[in-house]
Amino acid sequence: MKIAIGSDHAAFDLKSIVIQYLEGKEFDVVDAGTFTKESTHYPIYAQKVARAVTSEEVDFGILICGTGVGIGISANKVPGIRAAIVSDTYSARMARAHNNANVLAFGERVVGPGLAIELVDAFLEEPFQGGRHQTRVNLISQIEAGDDISSD
Ligand code: RB5
Repeated sequence: MKIAIGSDHAAFDLKSIVIQYLEGKEFDVVDAGTFTKESTHYPIYAQKVARAVTSEEVDFGILICGTGVGIGISANKVPGIRAAIVSDTYSARMARAHNNANVLAFGERVVGPGLAIELVDAFLEEPFQGGRHQTRVNLISQIEAGDDISSD
């Protein structure tokens, strides 16, 4: 499985830890930066990872900033991205099972390295359940396309 990962300066350390973990488990990891702790802007890395996902260069994306919020919101502006901003393993699992999330986002200032690894494992291990959840994910896509779904 191929994973793109990106962070801003606030999450550079945690990104390095997650990369080391994923490579240890033989995932193919694409590091989209940032590559130093110098202050930068999280939307840059969100867009890089999001584009790697929507172009199918990778299977999933992982994004980390201080809270996970800014980088997750940014990724969700890219059509086709369903980024889940989570800080518990139940939500990480359900983001895959029910929402078919293709990007996991969390914050270095929110979760410690141990929990971060558990979030990653939960997200990557859980399959999408499809069925009624596919109907709802399709409705998300319709919102993205500008359709009025109020009567669906
Ligand atoms: C950077 O200071 C911080 O604002 C950023 O990492 C993130 O938490 C934004 O959502």
